[in-house]
Amino acid sequence: MRLGLVAGSPIEWLAVRLNLVPRPLMDTQVAFTLAQVIMVASKIGLFDALASGPATAEQLARQCATNPAATEKLLPSLVASGYLRARAGRYELTGLSRKWLVSSSPRSLADKLALQFQEWTLLEGSEAFVRSGTPVDVHDTLSDDEWGLYQRGMKALSGSLTGPLAKAVPIPAGATDLLDIGGSHGAYAVALCRRHPGLRAVVLDLPEAVRHAAGLLAAQGMGERVRHREGDALADDLGERCYDAVTIIGVVHHFTDEQNRALAAKVARALRPGGTYTIADFFRLDDPGRADQVPALMDFYFALTSRSGTWPPDRMADWQREAGLAPAKPVRLAASGGVGLQSATKPR
Ligand SMILES: C[S@@+](CC[C@H](N)C(=O)[O-])C[C@H]1O[C@@H](n2cnc3c(N)ncnc32)[C@H](O)[C@@H]1O
Repeated sequence: MRLGLVAGSPIEWLAVRLNLVPRPLMDTQVAFTLAQVIMVASKIGLFDALASGPATAEQLARQCATNPAATEKLLPSLVASGYLRARAGRYELTGLSRKWLVSSSPRSLADKLALQFQEWTLLEGSEAFVRSGTPVDVHDTLSDDEWGLYQRGMKALSGSLTGPLAKAVPIPAGATDLLDIGGSHGAYAVALCRRHPGLRAVVLDLPEAVRHAAGLLAAQGMGERVRHREGDALADDLGERCYDAVTIIGVVHHFTDEQNRALAAKVARALRPGGTYTIADFFRLDDPGRADQVPALMDFYFALTSRSGTWPPDRMADWQREAGLAPAKPVRLAASGGVGLQSATKPR
C-alpha cells in the first residue's frame, strides 16, 4: 500500500505516466498542507459539528468557535479531498469522515490526529537527525499531558486493528493467562479475552503510560479480568511458566535488536510449555529495492523518535528461535498498511 497520484482524467493519467507531473510537489507541499487541514478540522471539532447534519460555513464557524472567513477557506479543500460534500451552500460528512473522524465512531482516529501535532514537531527534527545521527527518545522526553495524548492516540489507532489481530493471534486451547507487553489502553488484551472466554490478561506498561491508560482500560468494562501492571519490560523479571500467551503489539520498533533478543528470552521463560509469543508490528523488508512505503517511512520515524526502527519478520523469528521457541510463518494483515504478526510456540 502506498500514497499515490490519482488522475482525474485520461489526459492527467497520461501526464502521470509520462512523468510530466511535478510529483515531489504533490508528495510534499500538497501532502503536508492536506495533513494540516485534516488535523486542524478534526481538532476544532468540525467533523463532530457535522455529525448531526449539514451546515453552512458560518454555522460551522459558530459551532467550532473559529473565524468565519478562515473556516470558509478550510472547507473547499476538505471537499476536494473527499472528506466533505458541498450541496446548496451547506457542507456534510462523507462516508470517509463519518467512519474515521467523527469522535463517536468506533473507528474514530480523532485522538490519533490530535497526537499527530506532537508527532509533527518531532518530525521537524528530521534534518538534525539525518545530519548527526542523534535521535530523540520519545519516551524520555514526554510531558505528563503528552503521555495522555499518546495513550489516547494509541487507543484510537487500535480501533481498526483489534478485530483482525484478535483473530490472528494464536492462543493455545485451554489458555488462562495472557501478558500484553506495552499494552497501554488494553484494547488488544480485551479483544483477545472476549474471543477466548477462559482467558484473563495482564497489561504491562511504563508507569507514566498506565497513569493515563488506566481510565481507557476501565471504560472497556472488563474489571479484574484485564488489569494493568506498571513496569519496564526491558528491566523487569516476567516470571517463569506463568503465561499461556504473550503479545507485544507496536512496541518492538522502540527496542534495539539486542533488547528484543533479551526480551524474547525472558518471554520464553515466562511461557508455559505450548504457550505462544506473538510480535505484531510493521513488517519492514530487508531488501531496500522491495521496500513497502508505510513500513519504510515508519522505520525512519521510529529511528528518529526511538533509537530503533521497524524490523523484518525473519529477524523477529530469529529472536524467538534463539530463545528456544518455534517460529511460525509470518502473517500479514491486509487492511493495516503494512502490519503483520510473527508468532512462535514454546515446545512442550
Ligand atoms: C506505540 S505504543 C503501542 C501501544 C499498544 N501496544 C498499541 O499497539 O496500541 C508503545 C507502548 O509501549 C510502551 N513501552 C515503551 N517502552 C516500554 C518498556 N520498556 N516497558 C513496557 N512498556 C513500554 C509505551 O509506554 C507505549 O504504551
